[in-house]
Amino acid sequence: MQFIPFELERWQSKWEHRVSFNLSESGVHALTIAELLAITDTDHDELDEVRLGYSQADGTDELRAVIASLYPGASADNVIVTVGSSEANFVATWTLVEPGDHVAILSPLYRQTWGLAQNFGATVSTFDLRPELGWEPDPADIARAIVPGTKLVVVTNPNNPTGHVLSNTTRAEILACTEAAGAWLLADEVYAGAELSGETTATFWGSYEKAIAVHGLSKAYGLPGLRIGWIVAPANFKESLWSRHDYTVIGPSAPSDFLATRALLARDKILDRTRSILNENYPILNSWLQRLGTAVKWWEPDCGAISFVQYQRDIASLDLAQRVLSEYDILLEPGEHFGFERSIRFGYGNETREFKQALDVLGPAMVKYLMD
Ligand SMILES: Cc1ncc(COP(=O)(O)O)c(C=O)c1O
Repeated sequence: MQFIPFELERWQSKWEHRVSFNLSESGVHALTIAELLAITDTDHDELDEVRLGYSQADGTDELRAVIASLYPGASADNVIVTVGSSEANFVATWTLVEPGDHVAILSPLYRQTWGLAQNFGATVSTFDLRPELGWEPDPADIARAIVPGTKLVVVTNPNNPTGHVLSNTTRAEILACTEAAGAWLLADEVYAGAELSGETTATFWGSYEKAIAVHGLSKAYGLPGLRIGWIVAPANFKESLWSRHDYTVIGPSAPSDFLATRALLARDKILDRTRSILNENYPILNSWLQRLGTAVKWWEPDCGAISFVQYQRDIASLDLAQRVLSEYDILLEPGEHFGFERSIRFGYGNETREFKQALDVLGPAMVKYLMD
C-alpha cells in the first residue's frame, strides 16, 4: 500500500521558521506565556508550582469539565484531551477506519483525515465545496459521496482553507445522509470561535448519536504551542479513543493542561483578541487583493485567519509558492495541498505591522507571476 505523506504539514514545518514572512499560518499570531498569564489573571507562581510529572492521561478533571461546559449535554466523561487537534483527528480516524472501509470527506479541507483514511486502507470519496455556490456543496454531491455502508463522514466546519461556515441547510443535508448510511460523523471544528462576526459556529456535537467533535487551542485561541486539542464523543466511544491514545502519546503535558484550563476559563477575552486581529487585518488583505484586479478572485471568509484566493494565470500553485519562497522569502500555502489548483491560501493573522510589510514585499511578486 502506498503511503500518502501529509504534504501541507511538511511544507510548513520545513519553512515556517526560516522565512522572513510566514503567510501560510491559519491561526492568529500566538500569545507568549507572559501574555497568556496576564490575560487569564494567572500569577506566575502558580505556573511555577505545576509539577512536571505525568499528567492525567485523558486530561485533568478540571480541563475536561471546562471543555464539556462548552458543549450542550456533554460531561467530562465525553471528553478526551489530546496533543493538538492533530492527535484528536489521528486517534478518531485510527479507531474508526479499517481496511476496505469507505470514508466520505468534504473537500477542500485540511487533508489530515483524507490522507490518514487512505493510509489505513479505506477508499475515500469527496463532496466538494463549490466556489460558484459561495463555497457550499451541491446536495447531489453529498448524496453521491455518502453511500449506504459508509463508515465515516468528515467535515471541517468552519472550513480550512475557505474560511466558510456551512449553511443550516447543508448541515441538515449532511446529517440526513450520514444517519441514513449509519456512518460516524467526525466534525473538525478547530476554527470555531474565530468568526469575524463574533457569532460562534454551532457544533455538530449533539446533532446525531454518532457525531464526534474535534477542537483545540491552536487556531481560534492563538495557542498552538500548547499542543492541546480534544474530542467530544459518546462516553463509551471515548474509552475506545483512549485505548488508541495510550499508544500515541499517553497524555498531554502538565504545564499545557494547566495553561489550557486557564485559557478556557478566560475564553471570552482570548477570543476577543482573536477577532480584533482578524477584523483589523482582513480589510488590509482585502484592499491589497483588490489592487490585483481581475487576476484574482476571493470570497470574504466567515472565520479563521485564512483567505482562499483563486487566480487566472496558468501556473501551478506549488510552482508559484516555490518561486515566491525562493525569490521573496515569503511562505504561502499552495492550493495543491488542498487538492485545489490555481489557488493560494493566504494567512492574515500575523501581527499587523509585520503583515503589512509582508504584503508590501509580496505585491511585486503577484504582479510578476499573476498579472504581467
Ligand atoms: C482543520 C484543522 N484541523 C486540525 C489541525 C491541526 O491543528 P493542531 O494539531 O495544531 O491543533 C489544523 C491545522 O492547521 C487544521 O487546520
